[in-house]
Amino acid sequence: MKNIVVLTGAGISAESGIQTFRDSNGLWENYRVEDVANYDSFDKDAELVTKFYNARRRQLTTAMPNEGHKQLVRLEKDFNVTIVTQNIDDLHERAGSKNVIHLHGELTKACSVDDKEEIYNIGYHDITPFDVDKNGKMLRPFIVWFGEAVPMIEPAIEKIQQADYLIIIGTSLVVYPAAGLRNYAPKNCRTYLIDPNKPQADLSNITFVQQKATIGVKQVVDEILAQMDDKDIAE
Ligand code: APR
Repeated sequence: MKNIVVLTGAGISAESGIQTFRDSNGLWENYRVEDVANYDSFDKDAELVTKFYNARRRQLTTAMPNEGHKQLVRLEKDFNVTIVTQNIDDLHERAGSKNVIHLHGELTKACSVDDKEEIYNIGYHDITPFDVDKNGKMLRPFIVWFGEAVPMIEPAIEKIQQADYLIIIGTSLVVYPAAGLRNYAPKNCRTYLIDPNKPQADLSNITFVQQKATIGVKQVVDEILAQMDDKDIAE
């Protein structure tokens, strides 16, 4: 089977009611990014930062996967599909995607302030000041904050290096290392970018589909499935 890697950003969840970061109604207008998304802020004001992520997590209880998330699942019958997402929501999993790599962490997990590898599944529950790890240390949201290492970048690079198709959806491609992942795609990899707005990034060798995710993903999935030849099916 051929390999498809899908790189998603906040735009794929926009039509599920989860605000993007950098559009005019983006999240960081109400909360300055530097107030919430870095370890120093957490160190100074754990309550503010924890409350911010508790609110994001609660929002997941009402947000539903949209047609963009769902259409991607159709590809899994005929291709090895890996979703590499910058999103911290669980909408890809809830749509039915089986292989999801979260580059920037997951809202439904917490970890020890002392050890990010000590991870707890918390579902949609708030993190409170009373939640501690097995050594009595405070729990923090399992989020990769600005300035922190991105451990899942390595497995993501490995997948992209073997991609026959790369589908990029709803990301402004300004935050690294995620934005640089497409540079690891092999020369013959067919690359699509789906976004209602043209990103500033260089789009050479990329098929740009200027659509919202709910429309554009179906278009691209239909095209890839239609391109499948007998060899793809037999492999
Ligand atoms: N469908 C597809 N794309 C959309 C839609 C939609 N309905 N609505 C908006 N978009 C696009 C925007 O045009 C923009 O290009 O989604 C993109 C969102 O960009 P950002 O808000 O910058 O989000 P993202 O690229 O995921 O941010 C990367 O930055 O703040 C950090 O860690 C955070 O993971 C995040 C990272």
